[in-house]
Amino acid sequence: MSEVVEAAGGLAAARSDEVLTRYAGAVLGTYGTPQRVLVRGEGALLWDAEGRRYVDLLGGIATSVLGHAHPLLTAAVTSQLATLGHVSNFFATPVQVALAERLLQVLRAPEGSGVFFCNSGAEANEAAFKMARRTGRPRVISALGAFHGRTMGALSLTANPAYREPFEPLVPGVERVPFGDVDALAAAVGRDPGAVAAVVLEPVQGEGGVVPAPDGYLAAARQITADAGALLVLDEVQSGIARSGAWFAHQLHTPGQPGLGLPDGVLPDVVTTAKGLGGGIPIGAAVALGERAASLLGAGQHGTTYGGNPVSCAAGLAVLHAVERDGLLAAATGVGAALRARVDELVAGGGHPLLAGLRGVGALQALVLARPLAKEFARHALEAGFVVNAVTPGAVRLAPPLVITAEQVAEFTAALPELLERTEPSRALGRTA
Ligand SMILES: Cc1ncc(COP(=O)(O)O)c(C=O)c1O
Repeated sequence: MSEVVEAAGGLAAARSDEVLTRYAGAVLGTYGTPQRVLVRGEGALLWDAEGRRYVDLLGGIATSVLGHAHPLLTAAVTSQLATLGHVSNFFATPVQVALAERLLQVLRAPEGSGVFFCNSGAEANEAAFKMARRTGRPRVISALGAFHGRTMGALSLTANPAYREPFEPLVPGVERVPFGDVDALAAAVGRDPGAVAAVVLEPVQGEGGVVPAPDGYLAAARQITADAGALLVLDEVQSGIARSGAWFAHQLHTPGQPGLGLPDGVLPDVVTTAKGLGGGIPIGAAVALGERAASLLGAGQHGTTYGGNPVSCAAGLAVLHAVERDGLLAAATGVGAALRARVDELVAGGGHPLLAGLRGVGALQALVLARPLAKEFARHALEAGFVVNAVTPGAVRLAPPLVITAEQVAEFTAALPELLERTEPSRALGRTA
């Protein structure tokens, strides 16, 4: 590979400052200035161009489920590419069918269900939006704090005005309700239930700050949408594919208890997924559960060239296989428990005044800060060799590869008091750490 990069511009072994200078001259500035130039990864470790080592607690934003350079994923992708890389949707491939069947299995899909493959989370939500439109009903309800992607349809469902307003007018018909408020959802749907095509929700709002739906909320949303004859679309782009400790967060359910998820046997109409599904290879999917949802997009009504690409589907199969083979559902739960134990201990012991707690499920967590210093915390963490993300001003997202070791998690939690102290010196606040 370095031969190709070298031939294209001599950057294969370049230092960070040269790469960043040339980045600024060649790549559009939509993502701001990159924080580091990364050149290699292994498991939950990353190295930059100067050879500095980082523990990856972000996993490419909740994506690299199997970490970096995972042998099974690498083998699946390279062997598929060496056999058959792309053919278009005029043809079927065994690997695409196998992944669709496996996804339907883990979603406990009934007869008549079906998968639409695409390339990203936003595209998966575009497909779901088009399904909603095909009901013939004009209203679509999403939540405040929601993030569903940046393409025009997905953006219309997204809440953040700073993302939306520069691109208005967006797709009409979308209304927003406060996340987690059953009465507000019931009232909004109730204003004209027959006109509601779909309610679109994240079981855990990721970009909104890692905010899990309150217990019973999704179940109530299922009841409200069913009564109105509307679709319930769950966006599991961030929370799905083992991250929550279940295959999908809406499956987190203990019988007899009002939990985050839906009771056994109760399903949404559409689930969207991407990110973790490819473990680092681009793929997304909108899964229509049951005959009604599956009938909404007919022949010729939606499509994309790369949808169901054999290499992406091989990646998806490798991820799902490794999750099962290597017990990564339990691993995700374990990561969350280890983080919680340490944060609870810190907070209970008087901890650091900046640390208010931990919020999330499984390996999708946020350190909740008492003041809006998440960016500063993330900068100090990076300097100390930990990749995290300031998801909101007051929340630091932790979404590591599920293969992260207990020692690597412990390395971070051991550094936590010092990172908090560097972010906001407690002496300066007149308090003791
Ligand atoms: C819940 C959710 N939906 C959709 C998206 C958009 O996915 P993508 O960036 O792959 O388009 C994201 C990305 O962060 C997400 O978290």
